[in-house]
Amino acid sequence: MAEHSTGISKGEVVIEAVDIVKNYGHLQALKGASLKVYAGEITALLGDNGAGKSTLTNIICGALPKTSGRIICRGKEIEVQSIQHAARLGIQMVYQDLALAPDLNVPNNIFLGREIIKDSIFGRLFKLLDMKKMTEISKNHLAELGIGLKSLSVPVKSLSGGERQALAVAKAVAWCESVLIMDEPTAALGARQQALVYSTMRAAAQKNLGVLVISHDIPKMLEVADRICIMRQGVVIADLMASETNLQAVLSLMLTGRAA
Ligand SMILES: Nc1ncnc2c1ncn2[C@@H]1O[C@H](COP(=O)(O)OP(=O)(O)OP(=O)(O)O)[C@@H](O)[C@H]1O
Ligand SMILES: [Mg+2]
Repeated sequence: MAEHSTGISKGEVVIEAVDIVKNYGHLQALKGASLKVYAGEITALLGDNGAGKSTLTNIICGALPKTSGRIICRGKEIEVQSIQHAARLGIQMVYQDLALAPDLNVPNNIFLGREIIKDSIFGRLFKLLDMKKMTEISKNHLAELGIGLKSLSVPVKSLSGGERQALAVAKAVAWCESVLIMDEPTAALGARQQALVYSTMRAAAQKNLGVLVISHDIPKMLEVADRICIMRQGVVIADLMASETNLQAVLSLMLTGRAA
């Protein structure tokens, strides 16, 4: 598991995007977008359809190359080559629950690709999985994030949508060292299931990770996020503390670019 919070202090800028430009042929999706994500905070990235939110986060997490601009991770400029490279640099994107293998159980999903092998001659020789250890670590990790599942040994396809999404977040948190990025993580979920995902996000922030979440649910973001960043037409036009703004002001900035 990632050694989060080691060395990261609350309030530290974990990731900074500076003047990011993205051209798609003649269309300029990002026109010099800048954004900071802070350790220990949930930052909501808001904006109308087409504002450039997914483009910006996809560039940060290595899914998309940028045309120009700089990405700075914990004070060091980085050239993110791929999603895997970003993950090694401490940046994890949660892609809905798509990263989960539906037929595998919870520990096997959390440790997918990072399995613990039994520490014995036979274990090493035949690559026998240490299920007991993986289950124990998964159980503690989920408990720490406040995710209560009835059983860890069932295939994850038998969990509810909200439980699967919370598990997808938990899995990302397990291996994330700096910043966790989510694009519409609760779009298909009911209110109770959303609450589970939001509480998991809060627990991730409490581990001093920076959490960046894209959402169209502005009232909810004003409630659950610490910071609200607003994008409009390819630029981040506002960076506000959630406690110091309101729905009307955010809507006005989103739709007109001006404060209400
Ligand atoms: N692969 C692509 N090729 C061409 N244009 C693209 C591509 N991806 C996105 N765009 C354009 O870039 C702009 C920003 O898109 P983006 O998906 O980042 O917006 P968004 O803020 O995430 O919107 P939404 O809230 O609808 O998800 C839009 O005008 C979109 O049409
Ligand atoms: Mg989008």
